[in-house]
Amino acid sequence: MKVSVVGLGKLGAPLVAVLASKGLSVYGIDVNPATVAQINAGHAPVQEPCLQEFLTANRPRIRATTDWATVIGETEITYVIVPTPSGADGAFKNDHVLAAIEEIGRVLAHKQGYHRRDAGHLRRCRRYRQTTPSFRPPLP
Ligand SMILES: NC(=O)c1ccc[n+]([C@@H]2O[C@H](COP(=O)([O-])OP(=O)(O)OC[C@H]3O[C@@H](n4cnc5c(N)ncnc54)[C@H](O)[C@@H]3O)[C@@H](O)[C@H]2O)c1
Repeated sequence: MKVSVVGLGKLGAPLVAVLASKGLSVYGIDVNPATVAQINAGHAPVQEPCLQEFLTANRPRIRATTDWATVIGETEITYVIVPTPSGADGAFKNDHVLAAIEEIGRVLAHKQGYHRRDAGHLRRCRRYRQTTPSFRPPLP
């Protein structure tokens, strides 16, 4: 089974390594080419306990890229783990999430059959759909 992880930072890179350790083929994607290059070179892009060991042990099943068509088109499950920094009002900002969803939507528009699960609440889900017209999956 092939899965993908969007965002290869403090949470995303360890998720890539752990999923690969379970035998899954994992594509990672990040907007930062340096991060992608580090993963492909077998180097941990962030400091996390055991991350380097897991990446090294499972390297054959891990590939990083900046190509959305490959990542979303070829994998069965995609996790989005990008920054959600606090704005001036203290609320989470979804700019990075929306940017990622836009890219995913462009690929999903040509892909048959998919479901979406969102850790956010439904109001936020509706905002995703309104903000990103290319991404309009049916509600579960
Ligand atoms: N780090 C933690 O301890 C922690 C704990 C709980 C929750 N979280 C949450 O997890 C999420 C990710 O946090 P993190 O600490 O891993 O962030 P991070 O900053 O360490 O990594 C985020 C990665 O996402 C990449 N990115 C940004 N925009 C992107 C896009 N549009 N497409 C692809 N890649 C993109 C960045 O280049 C970066 O490599 C946030 O919502 C955060 O609040 C983090």
